Amino acid sequence: MEVVILPTPLEVTRHAARTMAGLIGAKPDAVLGLATGASVRGVYAELVRLHREEALSFHHVTTFNLDEYVGIRRDHPGSYHAFMEEHFFRHVDVDRARAHLPAADAADIPAACAQYERDIQAAGGIDLQLLGIGSDGHIGFNEPTSSLASRTRIKTLTSITRADNRAAFGDGPVPLHVITMGIGTILEARRCVLVAFGSSKANAVARMVEGPLTAMVPASALQLHPHATILVDEEAAERLTLQDYYRTVQRNKPSWQRDR
Ligand code: GLP
Repeated sequence: MEVVILPTPLEVTRHAARTMAGLIGAKPDAVLGLATGASVRGVYAELVRLHREEALSFHHVTTFNLDEYVGIRRDHPGSYHAFMEEHFFRHVDVDRARAHLPAADAADIPAACAQYERDIQAAGGIDLQLLGIGSDGHIGFNEPTSSLASRTRIKTLTSITRADNRAAFGDGPVPLHVITMGIGTILEARRCVLVAFGSSKANAVARMVEGPLTAMVPASALQLHPHATILVDEEAAERLTLQDYYRTVQRNKPSWQRDR
């Protein structure tokens, strides 16, 4: 696990965007795993800027989002379909036919989940999975006690996650159920890049990076991943005991090992 501590949230999100842009530069038809939430808004803002100002094209890219709420329409402002439109898709040249989100409105949810897994396989697997982390340590919507081998499936949200995500639903109810890629699905991505900033994430970040591998902290499964990069600001890093070591690693990283 590579831990990169950066001074500000802006630098965290820019670093993630540059890593994604570097991949697309090397592989224009890359398969991206995408995330939603406040932490990744800045990543999309920077990708949109690179598209507008530096001609970064997503035309040949394929995307798979991590998750979606069950029981709301795709055009509900709280849906992740709506989030992706608002923050990314409508600003860039992504081919909508290759932009996938879980079909949480399907009549047959298990069939839609199995199809999602097949679609990822058919696209050649995910080259880079962008991730945020929930304050309870979830990735995607894999809540604590999710199987570390799980695949795309329906999940029930914890009350902590529903409270954290309340703002997107105004006065309406926050959905109880979601479809999410599983932890096993996420671990198959060839690279994972997780962004976190702010002191509200410090505990989850410390448990993910330095705590035991446990289903109680789904993000700790990234300890098993051969190429996971954790991008954090100073506040989100504040409970890491090996901060000095992570900084030393970054300062002395061979140039050939750096992201483009
Ligand atoms: C949601 C998403 C996750 C995201 C998490 C953190 O639950 N399903 O993918 O990582 O929230 O969100 P935020 O970045 O808004 O704190």
